[in-house]
Amino acid sequence: MRTLMIAGNWKMNNGIEQTGMFVHNLEAWLTAADAGRKVAAALSDKRVEIVIAPPFTSLAEAVRAKTTSYIRISAQNVHDEPKGAFTGEISLLMLEEAKCDYVLIGHSERRHVFCESDELLERKLKATLESRVLPIFCVGELLEERTDGKMKSVLKKQLQSAWNDLRPDAVGKKLVVAYEPVWAIGTGKTAGNDDAQEACAYIRSLAKEDFDSETAAALRILYGGSVKPENSAGILSQPDIDGLLIGGASLAVDSFEKILENAVS
Ligand code: PGA
Repeated sequence: MRTLMIAGNWKMNNGIEQTGMFVHNLEAWLTAADAGRKVAAALSDKRVEIVIAPPFTSLAEAVRAKTTSYIRISAQNVHDEPKGAFTGEISLLMLEEAKCDYVLIGHSERRHVFCESDELLERKLKATLESRVLPIFCVGELLEERTDGKMKSVLKKQLQSAWNDLRPDAVGKKLVVAYEPVWAIGTGKTAGNDDAQEACAYIRSLAKEDFDSETAAALRILYGGSVKPENSAGILSQPDIDGLLIGGASLAVDSFEKILENAVS
């Protein structure tokens, strides 16, 4: 049984004050509202896990505002070196010290806006697996790659360049993969349930080919790209989708709560 992960990627949104309010309100809902208490029961049974990824300057506030262990914290990026002359960067040691549980690696905006290469992302993934922070590794094809029939070859290249020579237990127990078709991110266009399932099933089949069936069965695979309360249940009902990476609809606590509610009902 894979634990569902419902993760909010806030990108460059929600400063310190909004982060504190969000955490406070979400915890209040989890402890006091009927729907929230159902989600809290699912959290205790490890049927679901909640992750938020605030910007770097809000991480400490997210940790400070938490009074329960319901919400786990992710950073949105990390450098692969432990320290040094890398102006503007943050290390894994710093994320550990800030009490981050997860870090996003290779989000499409990092790949396409900040030109992060497969080689760099491989180094980031390997460095993260040596730390106490767990990686959420993002992959996904551009619109022209999908229309040219290259979805699978793009996913294969992005994944194999990153997980070549990793041990199966690191992939099965520590890695979370997020499939986010670039054309569906922030555009309002969601992949259809069947398209999202097809891509996530393909990722699982690659894990089986490159590692073994036990690793493939344990690997958690999220879908991301214009997820909203209205489409989340359909996406989550797909057999190879183990959670959601949500951008816009995770910024306000009420739509995030609605998605959490859908995840456990
Ligand atoms: P979106 O973003 O839900 O706003 O499309 C998803 C993401 O970029 O992780």
